[in-house]
Amino acid sequence: MCTISPLATVGALVTEQPSRSLVFEELDVDICVNGQKSLADVCAAMSLAVGGVIALLTAEDARRKGSQPVNWGSREVEEVASHVVATHHAYLRRALPRLSMLTSRVARGHGQEFPEVAELSMVFETFRAEAERHMCQEEGILFSITSKVDNVDRSLDERLAETVGPLANMTIEHDDAARALTRMHMLTKGYWVPEGACNGYRSMIDGLAELDRDMKQHLHIENHILFPRIMDRERSRAISVARSPQRGASVSGRTAI
Ligand SMILES: [Fe+2]
Ligand SMILES: [Fe+2]
Repeated sequence: MCTISPLATVGALVTEQPSRSLVFEELDVDICVNGQKSLADVCAAMSLAVGGVIALLTAEDARRKGSQPVNWGSREVEEVASHVVATHHAYLRRALPRLSMLTSRVARGHGQEFPEVAELSMVFETFRAEAERHMCQEEGILFSITSKVDNVDRSLDERLAETVGPLANMTIEHDDAARALTRMHMLTKGYWVPEGACNGYRSMIDGLAELDRDMKQHLHIENHILFPRIMDRERSRAISVARSPQRGASVSGRTAI
């Protein structure tokens, strides 16, 4: 049941659904300073329309409830690649800087109370750096896939070097990401919020749990659907060109798939 009301305190709203802190962050509402104040009072003090803020909080709740699952195995490769970039990569670009700020802030502020957060922050930073580098490399390949343009003259060696080899390496890098997620899951005892934790700690745990859920779906789609299909397609195209040399010779430049 939705309990968002103008009389609810900011702290209670975030406690009930920690992802609401994203809305408050976007509005520059400090959830620690304003935790005991009602939403109506905070909105009045900051000249925000309380109805508009309630609408944003309700939309965030709806987003968290999630949409109907899609069977990506039945979709075209280009559609799956576009989905990965628009959904999972976009999510990471939004979430990683925020989680970096939250984990380092909690490590600084609560390192003595919760000693595991120092390692958590380090594991997260390594994960973030790797994820950002990995995404850029991956997009170089996925953009060429979604452009619906292919150079049919590319040889098997070129296809292996430009697409199949890098995707195989990136599948190995996914294992590193999965190990980092497992470590973060262990350090937080399964994304558990200790009694007495502040809203910043709650937001960090909620954000890391969301990262874990999103990454598992992201890695599943790439490892089990997208990458194998791209690699199979590249190999079969190379074989088809090798068997029909006149086809490659008759087509100059880049040709639509
Ligand atoms: Fe990816
Ligand atoms: Fe990936």
